[in-house]
Amino acid sequence: MHKNYFSELVKLLDNASAPYSGFSVAAIVVTKNQSVYRGVNVESAAYPTTICAERNAIQTAVTEGAKIGDIKEVHILARNAAKALIKAHPCGGCRQVIAEQSGYDAMVYSYATETEIEQHTIAELLPLAFLGAEL
Ligand code: THU
Repeated sequence: MHKNYFSELVKLLDNASAPYSGFSVAAIVVTKNQSVYRGVNVESAAYPTTICAERNAIQTAVTEGAKIGDIKEVHILARNAAKALIKAHPCGGCRQVIAEQSGYDAMVYSYATETEIEQHTIAELLPLAFLGAEL
């Protein structure tokens, strides 16, 4: 059974920088050796340079030494401009990065409330993934 990160995610939402969309996202990733890394979305006035919470957390994990195959859990919570908590699933780009950094073997937990948590394998979220073996 995975740990419940709801209250940590709620706190982490306050660190998001989302002045343009008002949509805050918090992500916590857990590696196979139980290290925990956090990320929030950081928006930019040059919109495409925005980084999503999930990739921010994974990039921090990699910066701290995580290797391909190490990412095992991704926990996600969002909050909209009206300050309501919202269940969020990772965008396509983040699904690609989760797939690669987990060795196509991560579980993604999307929190609606403390007890209502939707979970999907990355293979469900990104079937027929391009993982680079052909490169
Ligand atoms: N966003 C994330 O950080 N993660 C997701 O899973 C969905 C979208 C961010 C990007 C942007 O800052 C805002 O949410 C609205 O798209």
